[in-house]
Amino acid sequence: MRIFSGIQPTGAKHFGNYSGGFRQYAATQDLGDAFFCIVDLHSITTPQDPEALREATLDLAAILLATGLDPERSTIFVQSHVSEHAECAWLLGCIATFGELRRMTQFKDKSQGKDSVSAGLFTYPALMAADILLYQTDKVPIGDDQRQHLELTRNLAERFNSRYGETFKLPEAIYPEVGARVMDLQEPDRKMSTTGGTPQGTVGLLDPPDTLRRKVRSAVTDSGKEVRRSEDKPGITNLIDMMAVATGSTPEEIEARYDGTGYGKFKEDVAEAVVALLDPIRLRYGELRANQPVLRAILAEGAAKAELIAAETLDVAYERVGFVAP
Ligand code: TYM
Repeated sequence: MRIFSGIQPTGAKHFGNYSGGFRQYAATQDLGDAFFCIVDLHSITTPQDPEALREATLDLAAILLATGLDPERSTIFVQSHVSEHAECAWLLGCIATFGELRRMTQFKDKSQGKDSVSAGLFTYPALMAADILLYQTDKVPIGDDQRQHLELTRNLAERFNSRYGETFKLPEAIYPEVGARVMDLQEPDRKMSTTGGTPQGTVGLLDPPDTLRRKVRSAVTDSGKEVRRSEDKPGITNLIDMMAVATGSTPEEIEARYDGTGYGKFKEDVAEAVVALLDPIRLRYGELRANQPVLRAILAEGAAKAELIAAETLDVAYERVGFVAP
């Protein structure tokens, strides 16, 4: 079984990334042959400071290790190190239609209100499809916000296969049962996000304990006192889900445990659970990040392994579309 997922190096990583991304990567690396890609090509769809991007790429490598990826079991690599990603994105960009790319909600959200939007932001989903399809991927661990992109990936694979003959495997997503969409603590009807959320409502993976406590304690909750999930109480529902993610309990167990305790005590406990989860990650991250040669060696080895598979798929795809072999 092949596992593939990608994550952008830019933007401070947060509890939502942990829930939909990191913890699922660590769990799925045991299901089979796993590839985890730091998608730097995706990051430049919006303007980036070059030096900050370079740092962020190594930061993310260290976070992937600190949250449990084992380079002995998983292939961890940087997207720009494997040039097949950009090449395959071109093929899939010629399969995707203007109409379907225009319907992508992430594109709509990120381009809304902007004077100028890059063509790369628009064609971004074709690159994401290339990432996944190059590895003949079976399972893609992601959060709910990537659902539409995954569906598009399947559609592009199907269209390519029916036009040119069987080339790409159709991948399936793996979403977490709880915490597939972690919400902003200050505006709980928006997803937690470094680009679209509030700074106070975004729980940073590397925030120090005091910052974590302050953010969780000041989370906006609804009027009422009952620690119970419901659609019209997004604030408390989100905190229950976060507690479940942080502790491994089910939301039902948490509701039962806090029956009748009120929001104040509950928030204190959520804050402590988040600190207990993230503080060891922050400390491990610090140690790993300090050793750049090791990080670079892991990424170099990862890219070499990834390229073997990616090149094999791209060769077949080029042959199918009718390119003359060099
Ligand atoms: P990115 O970098 O924005 O996010 C990385 C992962 O974190 C998940 N995530 C969340 N999960 C739950 N709640 C949230 N609030 C939340 N915010 C983010 C995302 O769903 C994702 O799993 N386009 C992708 C990167 C990508 C990719 C790929 C993913 C490029 N190629 C191939 C999978 C396969 C993105 O921008 O994720």
